[in-house]
Amino acid sequence: MSPTVPSGSRRKHDNAPRRDGQDGAPKLVSNLDGVSETMLWTLYDRACEARRRDSDFDDVDSVRICDGIDYDFAGHFGKPDGSFAARAAEIDHLLMRWLERHPDGLVVSLGEGLETQARRVDNGRMNWLTVDLPAAIELRERFLPSCRRFRHIGSNVLDVEWMDGIEAGAPVFVIAQGLFMYLEPDAVKHLFIQIAERLPGAEIAFDVIPRWFSQLTLLGVMQTPHYRLPPMPWGVNGDEIEAQLRAWSSSIGSLRVLAYGAPRGWPKLTEDLFRANPLTQRHLPYLVHVTLDGY
Ligand SMILES: C[S@@+](CC[C@H](N)C(=O)[O-])C[C@H]1O[C@@H](n2cnc3c(N)ncnc32)[C@H](O)[C@@H]1O
Repeated sequence: MSPTVPSGSRRKHDNAPRRDGQDGAPKLVSNLDGVSETMLWTLYDRACEARRRDSDFDDVDSVRICDGIDYDFAGHFGKPDGSFAARAAEIDHLLMRWLERHPDGLVVSLGEGLETQARRVDNGRMNWLTVDLPAAIELRERFLPSCRRFRHIGSNVLDVEWMDGIEAGAPVFVIAQGLFMYLEPDAVKHLFIQIAERLPGAEIAFDVIPRWFSQLTLLGVMQTPHYRLPPMPWGVNGDEIEAQLRAWSSSIGSLRVLAYGAPRGWPKLTEDLFRANPLTQRHLPYLVHVTLDGY
């Protein structure tokens, strides 16, 4: 049995060198733009959820990082609804269950931005590889410095050299949280096939947006008067996911489509109504959990 550390624990990092975002440090100005700027949106949602007294989402590092960046989060992204935190918590659970079976396993988080998932699920033994664009990794290093067990690669995830260093047969869990929708459909397909062929036995978790939302972003929809969402070219409806992925790869063992959503208020009520109706439930975002066949 692996020791499971309570989520949000700082204990194992108490001896870590001082990182930006700790009390008294000057705030960093973000010069991220385009798709990398979206990592501030998901960070903000998690930090706001973690600050709430009525939430059990525990994420002190997201709060620290959010407080350490000089950026108009609310002006850009509007009122957070907690759905990104719910998505992250759902993946945390998948990871913690997997780590019970593979306490020394390798988690690869593609397009990880400023996600603090490694800190939330750390069992003190696992290894973690973050792959993101160089500008994103540069900012991540300021707040979440790499170390022996937590490594960073600054690269486009589509340059699949990040797979070269993975030992054949090692237990691997690949996360692509808030990533695939920003890629062209052919690129998602190519990347998924590469993972399926080169990492047999791996588990993969990623989220998808429905096609109507993808199309809205291609029209240039504004999230707030100050922030236009970047294009999200890959959308897939809930009832199409399994057929699409199985058409891409015959190495898929199990595949689960999991619901997640805003934890409260109008956003939750609206999603619940969509979910209750078989005609509309496919138009919601979903999480996908795939287990690839082994050797
Ligand atoms: C919406 S953010 C999600 C960040 C993080 N996974 C989370 O949930 O908080 C999208 C992330 O994907 C990264 N990204 C987008 N396209 C990428 C690519 N082709 N290669 C590597 N990273 C990419 C961005 O830099 C950004 O960090």
